[in-house]
Amino acid sequence: MKLYVIIPLCALLTLTQQAPPREKCACELNNSEKAFPHGKLRIVETNASDCNSNITPQKTVELESLLLGLERRLSQLNKDVLILEKEDDGELYGVLSLYVIENEMTEIKQLIDKLNSTTQQHQILTANATEQLDNLKAEMQELEKFDTMQVIKGQQVNSALKADLFKCNKKLNTTVTPTEPPQGTCPRSRLLNVTGPRVYTAGEYPGSYAYGAWGRDPRPEEGKESWYWLVMLTSSNIYAHYVRLYSSLSSLIIGVSVPGNVQIHSSNPTTNTIQGPNNVLYGGALYYNCYNQDYVCRFNLTTKSVTTLQLPKGTRYNSKGNFCHLEECYPYTDLDLATDESGVWVVYTTTQDFGNLVLSKLEEGEPPVLGKTWRTSVYKRAVTNTFMACGVLYATRYINREVEEIFYSFNTVTGQERFNIGIFMNKMSTNIQSLNYSPVDQMLHAYCDSNMVSYKVLFG
Ligand SMILES: *[C@@H]1O[C@H](CO)[C@@H](O)[C@H](O)[C@H]1NC(C)=O
Ligand SMILES: *[C@@H]1O[C@H](CO)[C@@H](O)[C@H](O)[C@H]1NC(C)=O
Ligand SMILES: *[C@@H]1O[C@H](CO)[C@@H](O)[C@H](O)[C@H]1NC(C)=O
Ligand SMILES: *[C@@H]1O[C@H](CO)[C@@H](O)[C@H](O)[C@H]1NC(C)=O
Ligand SMILES: *[C@@H]1O[C@H](CO)[C@@H](O)[C@H](O)[C@H]1NC(C)=O
Ligand SMILES: *[C@@H]1O[C@H](CO)[C@@H](O)[C@H](O)[C@H]1NC(C)=O
Ligand SMILES: *[C@@H]1O[C@H](CO)[C@@H](O)[C@H](O)[C@H]1NC(C)=O
Repeated sequence: MKLYVIIPLCALLTLTQQAPPREKCACELNNSEKAFPHGKLRIVETNASDCNSNITPQKTVELESLLLGLERRLSQLNKDVLILEKEDDGELYGVLSLYVIENEMTEIKQLIDKLNSTTQQHQILTANATEQLDNLKAEMQELEKFDTMQVIKGQQVNSALKADLFKCNKKLNTTVTPTEPPQGTCPRSRLLNVTGPRVYTAGEYPGSYAYGAWGRDPRPEEGKESWYWLVMLTSSNIYAHYVRLYSSLSSLIIGVSVPGNVQIHSSNPTTNTIQGPNNVLYGGALYYNCYNQDYVCRFNLTTKSVTTLQLPKGTRYNSKGNFCHLEECYPYTDLDLATDESGVWVVYTTTQDFGNLVLSKLEEGEPPVLGKTWRTSVYKRAVTNTFMACGVLYATRYINREVEEIFYSFNTVTGQERFNIGIFMNKMSTNIQSLNYSPVDQMLHAYCDSNMVSYKVLFG
């Protein structure tokens, strides 16, 4: 290489020696620009994203749930005070009702305290975030002065373009897949959207039990209309042996279980204890998959007796026919019990159905019997959970840590199946261990990594 350069140079030298001397020509590059401080921009970006991750959606919903709890509680108090006034007999003045109201006042006080401490935490967080944002803003303005190279402006234009593209894409996609959900067994049958979460709470045992189910009895016994129930899989994330009851949504949120536990059996696991998370309470009885059997068990909370119903031969059980997503399956989710306006259903799969979802109606009675059965063409392992609403079966699938999609429906009236429902649910944590619809208030109750979450279902 050097040799190659030297030879022409020598030739040039000899040439210049022969040629008349020329004027010297110099070109000085004077860069008046200071170098753009990319490092600083990176720090600002990191600080901004730290700030973002401090304010999570969980924190905003937490406050909303508390307020909802308080709202429900206050209307209950109002009702009870009205009853007390009616009971006024001059002498006794409804001693019993007074006692009830005193309890309620205590509960409301606890709720307000929790609200107060949450609000204060939020204020600290907000103050912190505001200060950080001010700093970031000042820093960005400083950087913009540097920005003769248009680095930041370029980025702003880029992100605006990206947003436009995203909007455009979305518009296109929604026009391609118009959702016209099927008709079911009741007027409220066109499921349009799922919004929320409305409630998000860690409840009484924050973070303790990853698997469980909770909800509201759609056909409650008298006086228990506002009760909520909770089943946590307390043994190996598989088994449970009691139902925990709460007299209201707010007592569930603040973790005060007044009626307490109703025990199925003192040991866990054993015959007839609960196996797997997808249970429901209906008409004062818990319906669930029971220990080591292809049975639906019904536990009457009043009489504390269990009646059983064997599912068809070939039914997959003991974690052989689970709900799954690409990464993993949810263990012991062989049987998914569900409630809707018409009663109790069971969703499962069998060997003869090659792992596709099978749906059966449970007919009440002594003992309960298996009613009509429908076979679907959706593979159970491609589904993360199901629920029933107005005689229509809906199935969900995992999209990512933040989003679950209701993608499938099966109409028991027409037998029509759809794979393009396209309704998205915002998640507060990665997994949904159980999901059920409450026809009383059109809410979806989900148990998500030990949190209790509920969504509002909108019908057309
Ligand atoms: C280069 O820029 C500096 C600062 O603006 C100035 O002081 C200097 O005279 C310039 N040099 C030339 C050759 O223009
Ligand atoms: C980024 O955050 C760190 C630590 O909180 C802080 O020391 C620094 O001043 C911040 N930088 C900017 C540009 O806001
Ligand atoms: C909220 O908490 C603060 C500090 O713990 C207390 O001073 C204040 O009285 C509380 N407010 C209410 C309405 O309980
Ligand atoms: C406020 O911000 C600082 C620095 O970013 C952080 O260390 C601190 O934990 C924050 N405080 C709260 C209550 O979030
Ligand atoms: C729209 O659909 C296309 C192709 O299926 C996909 O690449 C794109 O991410 C979708 N856009 C939105 C906003 O969902
Ligand atoms: C459903 O609700 C979400 C948020 O609540 C909203 O962003 C979305 O546009 C709604 N979808 C439809 C089809 O109304
Ligand atoms: C539970 O038992 C009681 C008393 O026998 C009965 O009245 C009630 O109907 C039973 N509930 C269910 C759901 O079977």
